[in-house]
Amino acid sequence: MKLFIDDANLEAIRELIEYYPIDGVTTNPSILAKAGRDPRETLKMIRDIIGDERIIFAQAVALTYEGMLEDAHMIMDLLGRNTVVKIPSTPTGFKAMMALKKEGITTCGTVVYTPMQAYLAAKAGASYVAPYVNRIDNMGYNGIGVVKQIQDILENNDMDCEVLAASFKNSQQVLELAEYGIGSATCGSDVIRAFVKNAAIDGAVQDFVDDFEKLTGKTSMSDLD
Ligand code: E4P
Repeated sequence: MKLFIDDANLEAIRELIEYYPIDGVTTNPSILAKAGRDPRETLKMIRDIIGDERIIFAQAVALTYEGMLEDAHMIMDLLGRNTVVKIPSTPTGFKAMMALKKEGITTCGTVVYTPMQAYLAAKAGASYVAPYVNRIDNMGYNGIGVVKQIQDILENNDMDCEVLAASFKNSQQVLELAEYGIGSATCGSDVIRAFVKNAAIDGAVQDFVDDFEKLTGKTSMSDLD
């Protein structure tokens, strides 16, 4: 499972990219709004931090077909290779996905609340589909269940598209989907940090250092020389 940061906070991205095996960054207009500067500037700064090899997702905001294509072209010009354009999984969005596929632009069908949206986005040529786990839960449905259903639809129909599960509130949700073998998950910085935020882990690591120090008076192997 690929792991993405769903955040536009530059400090958080810098930290997580340095310490965790991260595949890239996903954004949406609301996430960019939180950053509070020109969205083009924020996206460029994220690209600079993560480099050209990692993937960045940026969303087309326009609601018309022509507008979505223009947004997609602008995003690609701005961010270069390894960029995925997020397109809402609506009828207009499906039309845009089909056209962008022909142009060789990689898209992600986003705002996915139902398996049929994901199926149609995949069929329209999206390389990723992004179901919103927590938002589906908040509507009274089973977000994890919907993601698993989408994974099954993609697999059983041999569709060239992977799940990018999004909208998580805790690491247990991510764990359950990793166990199921979904393609990608994107999580807020706090959720990623919480993967290993555990007093037992910190305590065990410190115990090893303390025991070594009692034995040798040193706190690292290299200090023994
Ligand atoms: C990703 O594609 C979504 O834009 C994002 O994860 C939604 O997350 P939220 O429900 O926390 O806003």
